[in-house]
Amino acid sequence: MHEPVLWSDDNSPHSPRFGDVYRSRAGGLVQAQTVFVGGCQLPQRWRGAPRFCLLETGFGLGLNFLATWAAWQADTGRCASLHYVAIEAYPVPAADLLRSAQALVPAEPALIAHAGVLAQAWHALRPGLQDFYFADGALRLTLAIGPVLAMLQQLDCVADAVYLDGFNPAKNPEMWSQPTLDAVAAHCRPGSVLASYSVAAPVRAALKHAGFSVRRRPGVPPKWQRLEANWAPAMR
Ligand SMILES: C[S@@+](CC[C@H](N)C(=O)[O-])C[C@H]1O[C@@H](n2cnc3c(N)ncnc32)[C@H](O)[C@@H]1O
Repeated sequence: MHEPVLWSDDNSPHSPRFGDVYRSRAGGLVQAQTVFVGGCQLPQRWRGAPRFCLLETGFGLGLNFLATWAAWQADTGRCASLHYVAIEAYPVPAADLLRSAQALVPAEPALIAHAGVLAQAWHALRPGLQDFYFADGALRLTLAIGPVLAMLQQLDCVADAVYLDGFNPAKNPEMWSQPTLDAVAAHCRPGSVLASYSVAAPVRAALKHAGFSVRRRPGVPPKWQRLEANWAPAMR
């Protein structure tokens, strides 16, 4: 079950299925670090916690995962145990995970090393839930392979932080629908933080309806804005 990735001349990864890019052409890593890791106020939020759980919709090329792994590894105050739960209906080949990390400019040796470890573990994928352990077991990746809503309904986790990264909502509404975002909220606790590059009005409205308080923040070019939210159902 390996989804083809098309690589353009400028080394941007595209999805033929969705007619969209996996990440912004310029600054893919900055987007991961600023929109997602920074947008969830990491590493501060995992400091002092024994464990921390992150939920991502759209694992894709694993860039957000690798950026989170690198930030966690580099943080001397990191939580002892990090659980990264990611949903993906169409896993890409291991070679594309590696190529994606190698294509980053400037080169990020830590990410390339982590991508190599991930690519080695990336075999015998099957629909449903699959666990991978890294960093001597302190980092657990649960990959939920299947359609987003069905996977959210199968998962049993409480997320301290959520990354929403599911292609352009106009091209892929299922990842951003009210039932999907309600199901995301069902995995949150009061105060759970959420980050996304999308500030589309229907996404913000669906998040508010699901109990999130939503803020727009200055974005990473070419996007003007990015989104941060907290699950605060009583504040609606
Ligand atoms: C923008 S990419 C994610 C990029 C990724 N977060 C990264 O760091 O590389 C969006 C991902 O969502 C997945 N996806 C799209 N629709 C889906 C659905 N309905 N259910 C599950 N995954 C879906 C796509 O296959 C794609 O890998």
